[in-house]
Amino acid sequence: MAAFQQRVFSGVQPTGNLHLGNYLGAIKRFVELQTTHDCIYCVVDLHAITVWQDPEELTRSIREVTAAFIACGIDPKRHIVFNQSQVHEHAELAWIFNCVARMGWLNRMTQFKEKAGKDRENVSIGLYAYPCLMAADILAYRATHVPVGEDQKQHLELARDIAQKFNNDYSARIRARGFGEAFFPLTEPLISGPATRVMSLRDGTKKMSKSDASDYSRINLTDVADEIAQKIRKAKTDPEPLPSEEKGLENRPEADNLVGIYAALAGNSRADVLKDFGNAQFSRFKEALTELAVEKLGPIGSEMKRLVQDPKSIDGVLADGAARARVIAAATMKSVKDIVGFVQA
Ligand code: TYM
Repeated sequence: MAAFQQRVFSGVQPTGNLHLGNYLGAIKRFVELQTTHDCIYCVVDLHAITVWQDPEELTRSIREVTAAFIACGIDPKRHIVFNQSQVHEHAELAWIFNCVARMGWLNRMTQFKEKAGKDRENVSIGLYAYPCLMAADILAYRATHVPVGEDQKQHLELARDIAQKFNNDYSARIRARGFGEAFFPLTEPLISGPATRVMSLRDGTKKMSKSDASDYSRINLTDVADEIAQKIRKAKTDPEPLPSEEKGLENRPEADNLVGIYAALAGNSRADVLKDFGNAQFSRFKEALTELAVEKLGPIGSEMKRLVQDPKSIDGVLADGAARARVIAAATMKSVKDIVGFVQA
């Protein structure tokens, strides 16, 4: 494949509260990648409205996710932070991808099946076409690497399929225009570390999610120390003490989850955590986990609350990021239109 400039892209939906899963599975990794890559981080508001969003709540949420990015350590000056709807090329490229992707591919998307449930006839077309928009987000910047949690893996495979089919369908024109064998890169998902799939604190077999009815199932980034402590204290466990080796976590989903969370917060591995806490009772481990979670998340939550007090300054960050994103996306779109055969000025 042709050499592409290395570029990281990822997105987070502005729907409901951000939680520990979003932080450990995605945003914490976004921060780390800033030292090695040019990064583009997007608040994906067009994705949010695939299910109903109260408009005022949506505005608030867009600003809150932006505040979270900054509070967690993303530098919007050195990298790009913006909200999706300000760069119309996302929607434009998504349409072209709607015409590249096949119904059969989208019919296999497990997230759609889960979200639509039995109400399939009554969900929006946007919810079904969602993965094409996601592919457009990434490929508008011809991004090579995408950090995400485990739940987004299938969507990223679809983005690769779309890129590949576009490259094949238009190969003659792509070559004639000097792009070599491929116009779009086959993006690499970056899914690694101890917390690619953080589970609910109430049920170790269910993913931690914004939509769970119980707030005790998740730790929100804006939770204060008391809330964090209470949620960890009430977190489901089993009666055995912690094992001293990783193998002992098999078939113990709640223990595995809490140890994974500890490892991700501490920046080490499950094996390291078990070296310190092997044979410990949950009461002792939960105390240590609470202390660590409060130490790491407390400052983020307070900084988020401070930043959202100044919506003008957040909107300024988004406008500046959008202007810089637009330059890259517009260049991609111009080439795409030319490759597809559209007449343009
Ligand atoms: P979203 O908004 O649901 O989640 C944002 C990020 O958080 C990760 N995540 C988790 N990781 C570990 N454990 C969990 N329990 C957990 N819950 C959520 C998600 O994997 C994600 O990385 N479709 C995407 C947003 C998107 C996007 C993109 C991502 C739109 N366009 C382009 C990458 C590239 C989504 O709904 O994420």
